[in-house]
Amino acid sequence: MQVSTHLGPIGAEVTGIDLSKSLTDADVQKLRDIWLAHGFIAIRDQDVSPASQAAFGAYFGALDIYPFMQAVPENEHVIPIIKEPEAALNFGGDWHTDTSYKVCPPQATILYAVSVPPQGGDTLFADATRAYEDLSPDFRSVLEGLNGVYTPKMVHGEGGGYRAVSAQSQLGKAYGGNEEFAESEVIHPIIRTHPETGRKSIYCSRPHTHRIEGWRREESKSLIAYLTEHLTQSQYVTRFKWQPGTLVMWDNRCLFHNALNDYQGFRRHMHRVIVKGDRPK
Ligand code: SIN
Repeated sequence: MQVSTHLGPIGAEVTGIDLSKSLTDADVQKLRDIWLAHGFIAIRDQDVSPASQAAFGAYFGALDIYPFMQAVPENEHVIPIIKEPEAALNFGGDWHTDTSYKVCPPQATILYAVSVPPQGGDTLFADATRAYEDLSPDFRSVLEGLNGVYTPKMVHGEGGGYRAVSAQSQLGKAYGGNEEFAESEVIHPIIRTHPETGRKSIYCSRPHTHRIEGWRREESKSLIAYLTEHLTQSQYVTRFKWQPGTLVMWDNRCLFHNALNDYQGFRRHMHRVIVKGDRPK
């Protein structure tokens, strides 16, 4: 297994691995160490079925179920993320960490590219740990005392962007049966400590953090907007280009991501698996 960090400030490409074969304990430990050190790992030129993607995820922890999308028929843990040529909205098109509105959000997301547009459709990844560490010590200590109210309602709730365009694409399958959960709220810190590395990261996000606990929404939006603007500066961001057969696993505890929506008229088809995580602390 070889590791290259040419992608940008965050992330590593791993070569010399074949995901159609089972991995040894030593392989899994090595991949986990690379992942923890670099925030995301990318493995290209793989032929990954839904079953083998789920099996890959299970090396890293118990698999989770995404609450707002139907899985592919072959595996209950694999959701299709498809944007059709005529669709306007894309899935994951703002800076966020995955499902941070759950009590225990996923530690890892594993995304596999089935087919990609001829150009565009890249995913941006931002290093929320280094961005946090670059803030002034006094500002960091203020932030560390704050909790956020996290909720799916701004995107999946009544009037949320995804619900409004439910007829357009695979996103349209996102709304069956979880309307109550879509309005739910949970309290998490806005700065979380990584349970494995012990490093702190910015965690609140525009789409999932409704407000800072005890603050008005407008006051909260300003702080969240500032932190988003800060962590998405170029020195923290890798722009990742997909090819069919690329698999990426990212760490939702310390990385933000944003799926670019710049390929109107073309289809993009991905498969996604999420691995259960701890309650943010
Ligand atoms: C997501 O936010 O999980 C989707 C990212 C992507 O499609 O690039």
